[in-house]
Amino acid sequence: METAQILEKTKAGPSAGDSTESIYGDKKEDLLAVRDKLMNAIQKLREQITEQTGSDPVEHCLARIKSEESMREKCRRRNLPETTESALTEIFDAVGIRVVCAFVNDVYLVRDYLENLPDCEIVQEKDYIRHAKPNGYRSLHLILKVRLSEDRSYYAEIQIRTISMDTWAALEHNIRYKHEIKGNLNLIESELKRCADELASTDMSMQTIRDMIREEGEK
Ligand code: GTP
Ligand code: MG
Repeated sequence: METAQILEKTKAGPSAGDSTESIYGDKKEDLLAVRDKLMNAIQKLREQITEQTGSDPVEHCLARIKSEESMREKCRRRNLPETTESALTEIFDAVGIRVVCAFVNDVYLVRDYLENLPDCEIVQEKDYIRHAKPNGYRSLHLILKVRLSEDRSYYAEIQIRTISMDTWAALEHNIRYKHEIKGNLNLIESELKRCADELASTDMSMQTIRDMIREEGEK
């Protein structure tokens, strides 16, 4: 392709000639920078702990910027105007990160590390592990305020949970959006709750087993 053609194509990018402006205004790049800053920090922690203990505290980690459509939908649901201001200062999960750990103790290890990061402050914490939701949902939710520079700070939501908690949440989410379920809903909900509690109990046992193995290794 000729250079002139390439330039023409670049100019005709997503926003060229498009009157619907992004709800993130010109802050999308900053949100990506916040995401990368947090993901890099988590990667560094994984390397440090793997070096120290021989095992990675994190099983996997996902990051997303909330889509245009779900951010607008959330603004409407909260009776907020659909503005960049709302998206970045009233709603805290434009940047979302989910950290999935094998063991419960690692969830809190990640939490403590994030708390101590320079340029990061935990502004809200919901511990649905110590205090599970009535439906059985477990996860640790943090809202962080992340500073990119003197006058640029953004919120990010971090969900930290174990593999079992993550599996349960995926199934529960799946069921919740299958609206055709009607008749057996109560039974399904109580069975799900029972599974959540059993998984939590298994998580505790797995943690104990790992602690025992580590103690053996230290002897
Ligand atoms: P949002 O309006 O979603 O931000 O809820 P909130 O501000 O009350 O925050 P909360 O910390 O309770 O939940 C935030 C996110 O956690 C949700 O968007 C979901 O991704 C997840 N979550 C919370 N509760 C549940 C649950 O019962 N089941 C599942 N599968 N996910 C949940
Ligand atoms: Mg929230």
